[in-house]
Amino acid sequence: MEATALTQPTSLIDPFGRSVDYLRLSVTDRCNLRCTYCMAEEMTFLPKQQILSLEELRDAATAFVELGIRKIRLTGGEPLIRRDILKLVSSLSALPGLDELTMTTNGLLLPTMAQPLKDAGISRLNISVDSLKAERFKQLTRVGDLSQVLEGIHAANAVGFGKIKLNAVILAGFNDDEVIDLARFAVDNGMDISFIEEMPLGEISSHKRVNTQITSAQIHEQLAAQFTMVDSAETTGGPSRYMRVANSDSKVGFISPMSNNFCESCNRVRMTAEGRLLLCLGNQDSLDLREILRSHPGDAELLKHKIVQAIGNKPERHHFDPEQVDIVRFMNMTGG
Ligand code: 5AD
Ligand code: SF4
Repeated sequence: MEATALTQPTSLIDPFGRSVDYLRLSVTDRCNLRCTYCMAEEMTFLPKQQILSLEELRDAATAFVELGIRKIRLTGGEPLIRRDILKLVSSLSALPGLDELTMTTNGLLLPTMAQPLKDAGISRLNISVDSLKAERFKQLTRVGDLSQVLEGIHAANAVGFGKIKLNAVILAGFNDDEVIDLARFAVDNGMDISFIEEMPLGEISSHKRVNTQITSAQIHEQLAAQFTMVDSAETTGGPSRYMRVANSDSKVGFISPMSNNFCESCNRVRMTAEGRLLLCLGNQDSLDLREILRSHPGDAELLKHKIVQAIGNKPERHHFDPEQVDIVRFMNMTGG
């Protein structure tokens, strides 16, 4: 028997020895919010025919899972505004070899969709909420109603997903005075929370990103003054560093793309809603998988070959500079 038959390509290993087993899959660039740090006020979204169809998404995901991807997170924009999202979830959750199918959502549609999502096979949710003050939430999201998100969070809790994780992007001068309240909200509800440093993805008009930077260390300092924070060796295999709030069930994650380069443990790639495989959040390199899916429909081997080749180009690390928008792609295009 050939050695290669024993060592099936069950893992995608990049040139720096990192094993890629996590795919973040964006299913739409559209969103029902307009968060100031994520989008420009007037955004143009992609025409429908440029977005991967349900079948194309399924074919691409199948190829990734056959190559060793074990966890897929569905993202957007806002994944729940995609019309056929439940169908997609059902078919992806049935893929043999996939250990976990999760989603990042802004929570607005969870009051009605939490149960169907759970039934279709989503096991865990990350829900973004950057402020617990209704007026500020509206300002930050330009259009959002906080009460709807809170209702969504409680709906998700009620249907029994695995532990819910909240995500909060912290902007100095906007919501850095809510770090404690957000953490307390997570603790009181038995949830985890991650605090995220703002990244310079896309040219925005609402604020100068250099003025809103705050580091994870500063956020941690605030928390440590209020809670007993215990180091945690736990990792989700991702870029978050975790701590525990003593005497609680809650973990606090710090996602520090600006202050702390976590690239050495990077285990992920992303696919945008138009089928671009992004090898790294902080680099423009991408592979057009849509072109392959449309010019060679059904050719799974070619698709897998191209993906393996692309992993060979995964950059060693990102270099972000908040003074400069060197990544012209917005987060909604990147796939949170
Ligand atoms: N920097 C950091 N996080 C961002 N997100 C969106 N845009 C940015 C940015 N420029 C966050 C969302 C969500 C997650 C998927 O990505 O708030 O929590
Ligand atoms: Fe990995 Fe790129 Fe993210 Fe760094 S920025 S952790 S290399 S995807």
